[in-house]
Amino acid sequence: MSSWIIRRVKDPSKYWEIMDVMKDAWGMDDYTEAVPAHLLKAIDDNGGVLRVAEVNGRIVGFVLGFPALKPNGSLYHYSHMVGVRRAYRGRGIALALKLAQREAVLAQGLDLIEWTYDPAQGLNAKFNFAKLGVVCRRYYPNYYGEMRDSINRGMISDRFKVEWWIKSERVKKRVNGELSPPSLEDVRGIADSVFETVVVDSCIRRIEKVKLDLDSEVLLVEIPGDINEMKRYSLDLANEWKLKLRSAFQEYFSRGYVAMEFVSAKVDGCRRNFYVLWKSPLDKILRGEVPWK
Ligand SMILES: CC(C)(COP(=O)(O)OP(=O)(O)OC[C@H]1O[C@@H](n2cnc3c(N)ncnc32)[C@H](O)[C@@H]1OP(=O)(O)O)[C@@H](O)C(=O)NCCC(=O)NCCS
Repeated sequence: MSSWIIRRVKDPSKYWEIMDVMKDAWGMDDYTEAVPAHLLKAIDDNGGVLRVAEVNGRIVGFVLGFPALKPNGSLYHYSHMVGVRRAYRGRGIALALKLAQREAVLAQGLDLIEWTYDPAQGLNAKFNFAKLGVVCRRYYPNYYGEMRDSINRGMISDRFKVEWWIKSERVKKRVNGELSPPSLEDVRGIADSVFETVVVDSCIRRIEKVKLDLDSEVLLVEIPGDINEMKRYSLDLANEWKLKLRSAFQEYFSRGYVAMEFVSAKVDGCRRNFYVLWKSPLDKILRGEVPWK
């Protein structure tokens, strides 16, 4: 299998190739939901970070972001998109793109990259938490209103806004392989579960009970093993689960819990996915401390 290279775009016609990757990665019908070539060029030329992954001269993935300002005037980097063509996933290309983004943003002297994603998407959750070491303390209901690409069509567009503290011990150790994510066994014994879930049909589950009055230090919040499969099975069931996630995250984030890990495990032949929430000061988490042994 051919290897890839990560680089900046040199030839302006290549911006169109990036739009083709967007169409493929997000399942867009046409270019109306894509970031246009002229805006890619504007971001690339003005302090943004745009990197592409090429295989045999063809762009198969990209990462895109730009400098951003907090209300208090502090600078951070906002990462708007990372996408890899479907045929090239599962090879580490997305991780290589994010690591290249991290290097570029570190070189600009910044220490924080933020982005939003749908917290019900297990693949993205595993990628963001388990591979990159992000944390999350903020939940935005209906962030984009109605979306039209095939991943998001018909679904409530609630989003996590995650923080990737790229200079922290936690992130350094996670990307160097020195700080592994926990197993389900590591956390099950010390955590309470916010949802009780039951099987509806083979690996499809629904939430039977939501507990919003827990106060143990570590909590588990389950998401579907595969929300896209659940959506095909029943859009109502998928959106019902998302609304319960909304109430759980809004409640526990407002009480000082931080989403700090994500565990994906095969249980009785089905994938089960859990966020780990820890009621802990952020600096302790960023030092790489964890609540399990
Ligand atoms: C997000 C994206 C860039 C990641 O690239 P990728 O090559 O698919 O990522 P990886 O295979 O390295 O990592 C995904 C991990 O999630 C796991 N995974 C897959 N489906 C999963 C699910 N339903 N639940 C939990 N984990 C899942 C994979 O097994 C893999 O873990 P592993 O390496 O331990 O096996 C790519 O999937 C993509 O382009 N998606 C569409 C666009 C998008 O959502 N972009 C991000 C938001 S801006």
